[in-house]
Amino acid sequence: MTGGSAARKTGDDTFVFRIAPLRFTPFPIDLASMFPSPSLRGALLPLIVVLLLPLLGCAQEQGNTASNEDTDTASVDLSAPSPVTGSAADTIDSDVPFVESPQPVVNKMLELANVSENDVVYDLGSGDGRIPITAAREYGARGVGIEIKPHLVEKARKNAKNAGVSDRVEFRQGDLFEADLSEATVVSIYLLPTVNMELRPKLFRELKPGTRVVSHDFDMNEWEPDTTWESDGETVFLWTIPEEPPEFVNLDE
Ligand SMILES: C[S@@+](CC[C@H](N)C(=O)[O-])C[C@H]1O[C@@H](n2cnc3c(N)ncnc32)[C@H](O)[C@@H]1O
Repeated sequence: MTGGSAARKTGDDTFVFRIAPLRFTPFPIDLASMFPSPSLRGALLPLIVVLLLPLLGCAQEQGNTASNEDTDTASVDLSAPSPVTGSAADTIDSDVPFVESPQPVVNKMLELANVSENDVVYDLGSGDGRIPITAAREYGARGVGIEIKPHLVEKARKNAKNAGVSDRVEFRQGDLFEADLSEATVVSIYLLPTVNMELRPKLFRELKPGTRVVSHDFDMNEWEPDTTWESDGETVFLWTIPEEPPEFVNLDE
């Protein structure tokens, strides 16, 4: 999947739109079952609308003046032009659109992973950097963010500077599937079910036994979590890398 945009404003943790607009979608798609995450449903809806417009015979040229900043932070207005930008920064394909984990969910992810100053927290698909930055600022950990979108890497670096943790947080522009994860003691993800499944063998190949993995909203199929936390439509799963990979994992995938 490529493209997409944030579904809620940054600066506060209010969900700008979540389930309500989706209930009234005119399309015969059960988004709730396809995408159980309210956050990602919100982000994917504009993309689905854009894709379906031509099929409904109402395709039209839509001006696109959104900046990268807009795509990071703007709330989604269904009457507005597509927020998918055509700028150079957005021509790099990504597997998942940018949607922030709300700050209370970030806190819960780090709390469940029992993060301390001894940890190195890798956020795979780090967006605006909030998970590594919170890990450094609140728990004294070292944070590393891997992010494919250059403008988000820039933004995360600025956010780290503003938070006063640039010395303990690093953002690397690149594909999370190419990253070396071996030094991580905690890995956080907010991706999609298919991407989680694609990532799973890499986690078992590269992470040391005892490394904690936390995922916002999406599980890992047969890999049963140690803990599941749910509140207000948000879910966080926690796993620990075992001494031996389970039989259902094919490390060569
Ligand atoms: C749903 S957002 C999560 C952002 C952040 N982790 C959070 O929880 O707030 C997913 C992020 O992954 C990034 N991404 C998607 N595919 C990627 C890939 N293959 N490599 C690195 N980053 C990727 C997107 O650009 C986006 O910023």
